[in-house]
Amino acid sequence: MIEFSTIHFEELDSTNTKCMSLARNGAAHGTVVIADHQSAGKGRRGRYFCSPKGAGLYCSVLIREGFNMENINLITPYTAVAAAKAIEELSGHEAKIKWVNDIFMGGRKLCGILTEASLPDFAVIGIGINLLYVKDEFTEELHSIATSIEEQTGKIITPIEMEKALLFHLSNELSKISSKAFLNEYKKRSFVIGKEIEVHSGNEIYNAKAIDIDDNAGLILELPDKTKRTLITGEVSIRIK
Ligand code: BTN
Repeated sequence: MIEFSTIHFEELDSTNTKCMSLARNGAAHGTVVIADHQSAGKGRRGRYFCSPKGAGLYCSVLIREGFNMENINLITPYTAVAAAKAIEELSGHEAKIKWVNDIFMGGRKLCGILTEASLPDFAVIGIGINLLYVKDEFTEELHSIATSIEEQTGKIITPIEMEKALLFHLSNELSKISSKAFLNEYKKRSFVIGKEIEVHSGNEIYNAKAIDIDDNAGLILELPDKTKRTLITGEVSIRIK
C-alpha cells in the first residue's frame, strides 16, 4: 500500500506541473498535489482540461516505486481501473473506460488521466474527475462530450470524498501492477471493444474495429481488409463512430 501525503492548493496552473516540479526537487513517493481550481489544466495531446473551482477533483500523484521500464505503459490503465472503481462506489453507477485513459458515463466523458514521467526515476499521474457540471465554464464543444457525476446520477460528491476513494483504489491497483489480473477489470468496463472506430495517429487517419485488449493494455484492431494491428499507448487517439 502507498502512504500518501497530500498538499492542497486553492489554485494552481496545473497540479501535474506542480507535482513534476516537486518531484524534481526530491518529493517523496506518494506525494499528492490537489487544487480546487486549475487555470491551465493539461490534457493529453496538448489539450486543455477545464477545471472549474470546486466542481471536480484535480489531483496528481507522484510515484517512485513499483513500476519499471517494461510496465510503465500500464500505469495509466491501472489508474483508469482505480478511478472507475472510485466513481462507481460513490455514484452507484457503472463507469466505462475508453481506451486508454478516459472514463465515460452515459456516453460522455467525466474523467481524464494524464501520466507524465521522468524515467527511470518517477512518474506523475494526473487525474481529473468532473463532479459537478458547470455549464458556463465548459466550451460549446465540450457540452456534447463532457459530463459530470452530478449530471449523470444526481449525486453530489465532494472533492474530498472522491480523493479518499480514489487514493484507496489507486494504492490497491498500483500494488498489483506486476500481476495482469487487473486487465479483466479493465476489459469488462471497456467502452470500445466491439465498436467501429477512427484511429488518429500522426497525420494518418483510418477506420478499424476494436476487437480486444492485450496483456500490455494494447488495443487490438481489425482493419477493413481483416488484418490485425495492435495500438500501444502514446500519441494515438481514437474516436468511436
Ligand atoms: C485528458 O483527458 O486528456 C487528460 C486530463 C487530465 C487532467 C488532470 S486534472 C489533474 C492533473 N493536472 C493536469 O494539469 N492534468 C491532470
